[in-house]
Amino acid sequence: MIVPGYRDNPPTRWDPVAPVDPNEAEEFLRQCYLENPRLGPVEPRLAIVRAQIAATGTYVHTPDELSYGAKMAWRNSSRCIGRLYWRSLVVLDRRRARTADEIFSLLVHHLQAAGGAQRDGGKIRPVISIFAAAQPGQPYAKVWNEQLVRYAGYRTDGAVVGDPRMADFTAAMQGFGWQGKGDAFDILPLAVQVPGESVRLYELPERAVLEVPVSHPEFGWFAELGLRWHAVPAISNMRLTIGGVNYPLAPFNGWYMGSEIGARNFADADRYNMLPTVAERMGLDMSSESTLWRDRALVELNRAVLWSFEKAGVRISDHHTESQRFMSHLRNEEKAGRPVPADWTWIVPPISGGITPVFHRYYAEMDLRPNFYPLENTCPYSQN
Ligand code: ARG
Repeated sequence: MIVPGYRDNPPTRWDPVAPVDPNEAEEFLRQCYLENPRLGPVEPRLAIVRAQIAATGTYVHTPDELSYGAKMAWRNSSRCIGRLYWRSLVVLDRRRARTADEIFSLLVHHLQAAGGAQRDGGKIRPVISIFAAAQPGQPYAKVWNEQLVRYAGYRTDGAVVGDPRMADFTAAMQGFGWQGKGDAFDILPLAVQVPGESVRLYELPERAVLEVPVSHPEFGWFAELGLRWHAVPAISNMRLTIGGVNYPLAPFNGWYMGSEIGARNFADADRYNMLPTVAERMGLDMSSESTLWRDRALVELNRAVLWSFEKAGVRISDHHTESQRFMSHLRNEEKAGRPVPADWTWIVPPISGGITPVFHRYYAEMDLRPNFYPLENTCPYSQN
């Protein structure tokens, strides 16, 4: 039996000085070429890669290897419920970008390519931008933000205005001279740092950030809460590893599942903590937990998120649909003879877990490569 949350102490640590492990390179290449017969025989390629590693400590992926490797990394991401569409990932090869200005403009382009720009926005597509591979022992470009789009959290005596999760990061940005408006939904600047230079802050242009104001299909007062959320979740603090090569800057996005926003970002007590406010406006009896006022407010909050995104024409899915898709993914992969590593504690949605099919089984918890791993201390001045 697999205990939820149990970790088989996978060797996920990254030694930035070590040369690429030729065995990991070989394992990836064999699988990649096996799954893609059109790439031809793997043996000649293995000989080249072995020689490159021996001479330089690393090797360079072909565009096909990079693209398929990124898709495999998504397929192996055990916390992601949205993996049914792993083949559709749009891979942008940005390995040649070097300057902070270049990187920033390509990040803006990423948000546009993902469908999260204001013009033509809403048709969200999964996209990854892969910047230069880390060279063993060399410094590499970093983006300090955990996501390309996040809201500031301002510490004011005791309370936080905005997203408390981003309070440390926000304070760090203020330390560099950034000044936000001080509202609950101020978009944070991107902090880009390239080797040999100090960090530079960039304000995202408004046109690159699609947001959805949140209202409710029945409760007219809901819009007065002033809630909004961004259309594209674009994770920018994970290292992509493919065949022993590390890509420390490889931001990627999918589309939102409503409960990420409605049951976590807006609901968690240490995030926007909206349940008491919503329950009060609904006029619920909050005198005892057994009235289930929290649960009732939670459902309406989640309805509001889904309804608002749908009304705005911005792609989102509900946790029932996404759970069914994950079950299809499990069947597809089983047919293909591949295991599906999955982390129950992340796969099961944060609301109504037991009425989704993903709840009622256990999963294999394996650390398969290629994969994504958290980059610790991307921002040296915050907990992020
Ligand atoms: N849960 C995170 C957030 O609320 C996003 C994680 C990635 N989500 C996704 N649908 N691809 O911002």
